[in-house]
Amino acid sequence: MKMQSIWSHFADSHEFPQLKEGILTDVAIIGGGITGISAGCLLAQQGRKVVVLESRKVGGGTSGHSTGNLYFTIDKPLSSLKSKYDNETVKKVAQSRSEALKQVAMWVSEYNLDCDFKRVPWHLYSNDEKNKSRIDDEYKTGRKAGLPMKIIRESEMPVPAVRALKLDEQGQINPMRYVQELAKKLQSENFQIYEQTHVSSVKEQGNHYKLMTPDGIVTAANVIHATHTPKGVKAVQTLLGPYREYGIACRMEEGVHPDGIFWGYFDGNKKISTRNYSRNGEHFLIVVGEPHKVGHAKDNKQHIEKLESFAREYFDVQDVAFRWGGQHYRPADLLPYIGTTFRSSGEFFATGYSTDGLIYGTLAGVILSDLITAKENQWADLYRSTRKQPLKSASKFAKENIDVAKQYIKDLTGKAEDLDLSHLKPGEGKIAEQDGHKLAVYRHEDGKLDVRSAVCTHLKCIVQWNNAEKSWDCPCHGSRFETDGSVLEGPAFDPLRRVKFSDDS
Ligand code: FES
Repeated sequence: MKMQSIWSHFADSHEFPQLKEGILTDVAIIGGGITGISAGCLLAQQGRKVVVLESRKVGGGTSGHSTGNLYFTIDKPLSSLKSKYDNETVKKVAQSRSEALKQVAMWVSEYNLDCDFKRVPWHLYSNDEKNKSRIDDEYKTGRKAGLPMKIIRESEMPVPAVRALKLDEQGQINPMRYVQELAKKLQSENFQIYEQTHVSSVKEQGNHYKLMTPDGIVTAANVIHATHTPKGVKAVQTLLGPYREYGIACRMEEGVHPDGIFWGYFDGNKKISTRNYSRNGEHFLIVVGEPHKVGHAKDNKQHIEKLESFAREYFDVQDVAFRWGGQHYRPADLLPYIGTTFRSSGEFFATGYSTDGLIYGTLAGVILSDLITAKENQWADLYRSTRKQPLKSASKFAKENIDVAKQYIKDLTGKAEDLDLSHLKPGEGKIAEQDGHKLAVYRHEDGKLDVRSAVCTHLKCIVQWNNAEKSWDCPCHGSRFETDGSVLEGPAFDPLRRVKFSDDS
């Protein structure tokens, strides 16, 4: 099963340089996704010297593995906020998200970004009677929050539905191209962007931060962790649930699926979203769904196969051209955390976007640049990372999270197999045990073994094999590692430790 997001297939070929020397700057941003590049653009426009350090490819991380959908509502959806917030707050969430969409549209038009941006309607529908009331509830919440939602005919949905809702003037982009184009057009002497530059640690020294990279130290007055979840050990990590979700893009004739974003509830609680995408004369149906906690799936491939069955059941698709996974972090109180860490006023981060990251990433870029330049921002308080209320409401969530992880690790201890690797096929990985140590063992296509410690370098949970993406995934805070141990994403700084091992199998 080949994994590649459709966005990276149609990405720009531009490459940014690798950092080769030490550098002094006002703001160092770790991560060249939508949050980092948006914040960087705004800070540079306000006269700050900015350096972005991306460990892989600009736009190629979570941004390049998202849905490419932009909308005012939120994925749970908006009505879920009612359990924790008053109507004024729900309204502010919708307004702040609508401002962020305006910002994206403004940049696309001002800099003529070639990223397939277009305005489309967003829809929410129910495929079964059970979820009918959820659509009505969302309609009422949306209207009360000032969003012009409309109940429309179910027959306008791409699959059979019993209730449907529409909100016009939302948006779609190729998210990877958008981030790349924005970075390319706005880079300057004051806004330097580096790719393939891994930050291995951040140290506070006096009123500066030192960011270690392989070929140079970056010294900055402020640092932004634009890495989806902050790097290292941070209190906020106890307030986040790390999840993965999958996407597929199927080739189809033009017009097989209508224009727009379509979120459907199926068989109770299952949510699947669909949209189409065309570029270079090729047409695709994109299907996204099957969320599950990172490192908890027994068979990741099965999640993708379910999406493929869904696509074939409802649409006349040709082949499945692209398959990919994307990560998201669910916040304890349903709103992202954007601002400083508890410990330090010069270290910033933005996290907990759920699956609404393109809009929240843009919004975080605006808020963080305003915080750093001491500019008033009307949304900063709503999403403040150090807010008290979420900490209170999150205690149960945090406890639950830790319990789940503990339980999981306990289970895994029992499940780890002994070191007989003779049945491990090329392209497969498994957790094995040697002298009481858990090992993450992967067999390459040429038969050679890659053996790493299975202990996550973040906070020592045991990683789990992901058979679809061929990665080692940590169930605790979502760090993910390549088969060679290098960090793919998540809070871990360091690779999985190499273990000396001789293979007789
Ligand atoms: Fe925290 Fe692995 S991500 S222990």
